[in-house]
Parts: sequence; C-alpha cells; structure tokens
Amino acid sequence: MSRPYLIKKLFSNLTNKFPPAPEGLYSAVDVSARRKGIGMKLYMELNEAFRERGITYFEHRIDADNLPALTLRRMLGAKVIEEFMEYGRRRLRLYTRLDA
Ligand SMILES: CC(C)(COP(=O)(O)OP(=O)(O)OC[C@H]1O[C@@H](n2cnc3c(N)ncnc32)[C@H](O)[C@@H]1OP(=O)(O)O)[C@@H](O)C(=O)NCCC(=O)NCCS
Repeated sequence: MSRPYLIKKLFSNLTNKFPPAPEGLYSAVDVSARRKGIGMKLYMELNEAFRERGITYFEHRIDADNLPALTLRRMLGAKVIEEFMEYGRRRLRLYTRLDA
C-alpha cells in the first residue's frame, strides 16, 4: 500500500455528516501585496467559479493560528466544522456552503 493515509480518509468520508466535498488545497497572495483586497477578490472569484460549475459546497483546511485566512474565509461564509491535529499542528477544517 503506497498511500496508507487514504484508509483514514476513506473512513472519515464514510462516517462524515457532511458529504464529501471538493477541497481547495492552497492559495496565497504575495507578501508584498497583502491587505489590499486581492485575497478577497481571489476567493470571491473562486466561489463564483464553483457556483458556475454547480458546486454548492467545498472544504478548506488551514492551520488553527492562520488568522488572516480564517478571518477572510469566515467573511465569505466558511464555518469551522472540525479541529484536528495534522503533522503535529492544530488544524481547522472549514466548510463553505454556496447555496445558503
Ligand atoms: C490569506 C491571504 C490569501 C489573504 O490575502 P490578502 O490579499 O492579504 O487579503 P485581503 O486584503 O483581501 O483581506 C481581506 C480581509 O481578510 C482579513 N485579513 C487579511 N489579512 C489579515 C491579517 N493579517 N490579520 C487579520 N485579518 C486579516 C481582514 O478582515 C481583511 O479585510 P480588511 O483589510 O478590510 O481588514 C494571505 O494572507 C496569504 O497569502 N497568506 C499566506 C497563505 C495562506 O495562509 N493561505 C491560506 C491557507 S491555504
């Protein structure tokens, strides 16, 4: 078995009260251009692109101490649905509904 973590993911999906969702893996704004509204525009466009494709919810995982990402995601409707440890770090699983 080359990817043992998939077993945990499979069980997590089977017992999940939220349906399996597409997941945004990583997004970033260059350090020199932060706090100018680019992240907000980027995430709003991403939400719109999901909607256009009929995707009504998606997930994100971020470090629990990532205040910029958490604040921004919450402004666009994300809710924290799980707190967990990953690679020794406290992480948050965020779920955004686009049809609410
Ligand atoms: C998260 C990230 C993409 C935000 O991009 P950005 O262009 O700086 O964000 P915006 O300028 O659009 O900020 C929108 C709002 O988010 C919140 N926010 C952004 N940066 C913040 C910070 N450092 N502290 C607190 N709130 C913050 C604010 O409410 C802000 O609105 P305001 O500036 O009117 O107060 C950027 O910080 C980043 O690239 N971080 C590193 C990568 C990362 O952590 N990605 C997310 C995990 S995948």
